[in-house]
Amino acid sequence: MTRTTSSARREFRWPQPLAGNKPRIWYGGDYNPDQWPEDVWDDDIRLMKQAHVNFVSLGIFSWANIEPEEGVWNFAWLDRIIDKLGKAGIAVDLASATASPPPWLTSAHPEVLWQDYRGDTCWPGARQHWRPTSPIFRDYALKLCRAMAEHYKDNPYVVAWHVGNEYGCHNRFDYSDDAMRAFQEWCRERYGTIDAVNDAWGTDFWSQRMTDFSQIIPPRFIGDGNFMNPGKLLDFKRFSSDALKAFYEAERDALAEITPDMPLTTNFMVSASNSVMNYDDWGSAVDFVSNDHYFTPGEAHLDEMAYAASLTDGIARKNPWWLMENSTSAVNWRPINYRKEPGQTVRDAMVHVAMGADAVGFFQWRQSRAGAEKFHSSMVPLAGEDSQVYRDVCALGRDLDRLADAGLLGSRVERAKVAVVFDYESQWATEHTATPTQQVRHWTEPLDWFRALLDVGVTADVVPVRGDWDKYDVVVLPSVYLLSEADSERLRTYVNGGGRAIVTYATGISDERDHIWLGGFPGSIRDVVGVRVEEFAPLGDDFPGTQSSVELSNGTAAHDWVDVITSVADGARVLATYEDDPWTGLDGMPAIVANEFGKGRTAYVGCRLGRDGLAASLPDVLDALGVADAADADAKVLRVVREGEAGKRFAFLFNRTRGKVTVPLDGELVISSKTAVVGDGDAAEIEPNGFVVARSLPTD
Ligand code: GLA
Ligand code: GLA
Repeated sequence: MTRTTSSARREFRWPQPLAGNKPRIWYGGDYNPDQWPEDVWDDDIRLMKQAHVNFVSLGIFSWANIEPEEGVWNFAWLDRIIDKLGKAGIAVDLASATASPPPWLTSAHPEVLWQDYRGDTCWPGARQHWRPTSPIFRDYALKLCRAMAEHYKDNPYVVAWHVGNEYGCHNRFDYSDDAMRAFQEWCRERYGTIDAVNDAWGTDFWSQRMTDFSQIIPPRFIGDGNFMNPGKLLDFKRFSSDALKAFYEAERDALAEITPDMPLTTNFMVSASNSVMNYDDWGSAVDFVSNDHYFTPGEAHLDEMAYAASLTDGIARKNPWWLMENSTSAVNWRPINYRKEPGQTVRDAMVHVAMGADAVGFFQWRQSRAGAEKFHSSMVPLAGEDSQVYRDVCALGRDLDRLADAGLLGSRVERAKVAVVFDYESQWATEHTATPTQQVRHWTEPLDWFRALLDVGVTADVVPVRGDWDKYDVVVLPSVYLLSEADSERLRTYVNGGGRAIVTYATGISDERDHIWLGGFPGSIRDVVGVRVEEFAPLGDDFPGTQSSVELSNGTAAHDWVDVITSVADGARVLATYEDDPWTGLDGMPAIVANEFGKGRTAYVGCRLGRDGLAASLPDVLDALGVADAADADAKVLRVVREGEAGKRFAFLFNRTRGKVTVPLDGELVISSKTAVVGDGDAAEIEPNGFVVARSLPTD
């Protein structure tokens, strides 16, 4: 069965320290000792101890070394290294080792290899070349899981299971016949009858009506420039996330049957530009959430990281989560792999900690000499221990221990006043190639809002659409394209009860089947936001003489998308209009509209303003919502607070600028980097890439 049936959230469980050790922030990374001669291992452990490393993720890509031939097990080397690590006080996050099947398996069973939309096979040569719906592959993988669990069930040094690795990174979409059968089954479970599928996918369009589930095929090649049925495509993305999740759950359950007390996780890839899986849905299926995050080079570096970490915290529902991987410096998989600037290795890790991570991991411990990742930075670089990277790694280890000593563990990220909603399914739906403009996808808008809010001194929480955004003072729905009846009602109830909502263009266009709400946009919540949009006016410059921007009366400019707002509700207040040539039909039209609904208020932003335009418009918008006081930080810093028991607070302050910033210290300094304490010791001068963490106690 492919569709996941266990939608209930698993109870939160966190890996416990090795016997005799006190709880620390977990610190370490992926460790691949089988890529090195054993005489390197003792040196690894010496360097790990020196860096305060207390965990490693082990065996992720070791299947070929653990099961060198079918049914022949070689645990000896793994036993030796786990023993060495454990005796040195370093705990093991042990992989199921199933991420990359060995050549003997795929040679014997090429039918486990996934196929692309044209039917081409993904051959071995890299990793993750398996199809999630192959019963044969599942048998082999589960055999390995059981063997690992049996062999290590009583090992005192293993503290967690690391199931698989970044599911879907390379095998998200499989179009094979196995996938086809599983997709048919998934549709049967979701819809019950073929006519319900027809209805959902609107198959009367272009003569696609099906009479039997066997006629359902994955969205395979349809010819270049043609347009796939959007309902089917959206469901195939849902199915693909579910198929991998079902595979993960089978592995998880095989392990858990033998080691029921061992907490387990799998590493997600939450960032502002990744929607490979529906990670919010996956968040229910792990004991603790873990994430891999790689920095965005350039000016968005800090903000994007904070955004992604906040979204991860939202997926974890504010329970502690594990930063499983990040990089000490350059990655190897972009066209140009920028290194980190001095200070960023420590600063970046600390942003994740500020946002709720109680564990910091890197890919990887020792940089590889050979293989596809030999140019990827690591904790011990190719240059060796006499290097800035390794010195930074040691400094970070000391800082994390200081935070633990100061009592950070057990604290949670304070709930912000403002929630910015992100929705994986809206992103998937807006990726379709037949939309008003290909320049607009869901995911850029939440990041723009998060950054614009920072620019006016508000650190928002990024909250998944299924999360508790209706518990915040203010919620932003930024191009949340899909709004089901239930979500529309949730928004209505929230605002009616006194909530403040900011809703943008391209929100609430369709229901969860991507059937468009009728009668004017945003169809299911027009009453709440008090506007009626008759059509869209996309902007662009791909033809000579087309209009690429339009000015607003508040001094900002719209790009890419303008809503043609033809009427506003009685009592609604127009905060900004368009100023344009009369013949375009946009001049004088409402652009930003404030409304009152029940006990609450809304602001509708009917165009794409970008980060700067949003930041410039926000003071008026917040004022209209009655929350002009939402800002509580200097826009030059990112400020995040973790609250512990009995009123203990940790304020993390990061410099967002390229110059020095002076800020008051919220309490006693715990750790800092690139920071000088100034004044009478009550202020901090933070350099670019620097940060400070201050603790205040209720008695302060
Ligand atoms: C062609 C087709 C129509 C429709 C239009 C849309 O003309 O014949 O079915 O798809 O394009 O522009
Ligand atoms: C992913 C993988 C790692 C490694 C890193 C490199 O996160 O999980 O195995 O390939 O990317 O950035």
